[in-house]
Amino acid sequence: MTRLVVLISGRGSNFKAMVQATQQQRLDAQVVAVISNRPKAAGLQFAREQGIDATVLDHTSFTDRAVFDQALAKLLADIDADWVVMAGFMRILGPELIERWSGRMINIHPSLLPLYPGLDTHTKAIRAGESWHGASVHFVTAELDAGPVIAQARVPVLPGDTAATLAERVLAQEHELYVHALQLCVSGRASYVNGQCYLDGQPRSEPVPATAT
Ligand code: GRF
Repeated sequence: MTRLVVLISGRGSNFKAMVQATQQQRLDAQVVAVISNRPKAAGLQFAREQGIDATVLDHTSFTDRAVFDQALAKLLADIDADWVVMAGFMRILGPELIERWSGRMINIHPSLLPLYPGLDTHTKAIRAGESWHGASVHFVTAELDAGPVIAQARVPVLPGDTAATLAERVLAQEHELYVHALQLCVSGRASYVNGQCYLDGQPRSEPVPATAT
């Protein structure tokens, strides 16, 4: 069974959705461990309830980024997972660690990449007058939120939307999207080849919404 380690920093609703998908056999994988860089991340409690190995690697107790990365690299090597899955992990990792997991580290970002990398994506989409917003699952590369997209989900921006209402609607789609993208990865249908996402043996040039509304 494909082994997943999930990196979180907070609520962990995407993490929860993927654990439930494995239990319901909608995702052919096992979440073997979760790591949080924040001790109070709510997702840790869910992990413990599920009997999933949960580790806190508090970034504030490390002298610098490189030392934190080394500790995380050691932890990931010990867990011996097949995929590293970032789900609301609010920490930028250095290129060495990312390179070590190249093609086997993925992230979810709440925008239709390449639009709106970074923070406050919902506010940015509303302010820009976008009709559509959404989320992307992508392979992690050294450049922030810039790795090749595996799958996207779109949601309409509605009149009167605030960042909070839009975020809520996007999040509901994220849960399905992440399970869908992970299944593409663990089944071997999606892979990282020469800096691109290949889907069923072909370069995936145009993002295809997984759960377009
Ligand atoms: C999600 O919106 C995700 O796209 C972003 O952070 C949020 C994490 O939510 N990177 P959760 O912790 O999975 O509930």
